[in-house]
Amino acid sequence: NKAPVITVDGPGGAGKGTITQMLAQKLGWSLLDSGALYRLTALAAERQGVSLEDDAGLVEVASSLDVAFEPTPVGEPVRVLLAGEDVTAEIRTESCGNNASRVAVKQPVRDALLQRQRDFRKNPGLVADGRDMGTVVFPDAPVKIFLTASAEERARRRFNQLKEAGVDVNIDALLEEIRARDERDMNRSAAPLKPADDAQVIDSTGLSIEEVLDRCMAAAGQA
Ligand code: C5P
Repeated sequence: NKAPVITVDGPGGAGKGTITQMLAQKLGWSLLDSGALYRLTALAAERQGVSLEDDAGLVEVASSLDVAFEPTPVGEPVRVLLAGEDVTAEIRTESCGNNASRVAVKQPVRDALLQRQRDFRKNPGLVADGRDMGTVVFPDAPVKIFLTASAEERARRRFNQLKEAGVDVNIDALLEEIRARDERDMNRSAAPLKPADDAQVIDSTGLSIEEVLDRCMAAAGQA
């Protein structure tokens, strides 16, 4: 299947989720939130009592994930169903994100999720958000974007999101977590976070969402 794909990779909190939703909506294409698959694997493992150290158990969990994604308006997180149950809020917690990044260092788990991700590629096109969309999952994608922002800016954005949601957090602790997650994602041997050789790097530090979207549309040749 050679439907067009736009890959949007980058560190956590750079705005990939929102931008991917906006691009998909503007183009009328479908969307893949690959991070959700790693989050779901972590959540399902926890629920089934599979330890994050048990590689074979995790592969089994990843291979048998019963998941459905339901589109939502831009700005609202995509609705995620695990065995029919809405787990949208549960997979967005910091702890699920951290567990996801522990699960994601394991090559066998990544292999178990590979074909499932490629199956999202359909006409008229796909916008795929993650860490290795341009390097591993869709290496032949005609448009690759690497969206980044400074760790401080990402911590500030996350802080404001959480504050709006009424969650009391410490910005320095958030910054520490972001740095630790970056470190783990960039320095792992399995599909480390890095721009594909043919990716266009966009730094969103200090830019509004609209400005980032304009740059991404230009990168996609659709401006
Ligand atoms: O993007 P999100 O924060 O939902 O991803 C959660 C974790 O899943 C990341 O920190 C990363 O370790 C992992 N991940 C990955 N490859 C992807 C998407 C996410 O390793 N394509």
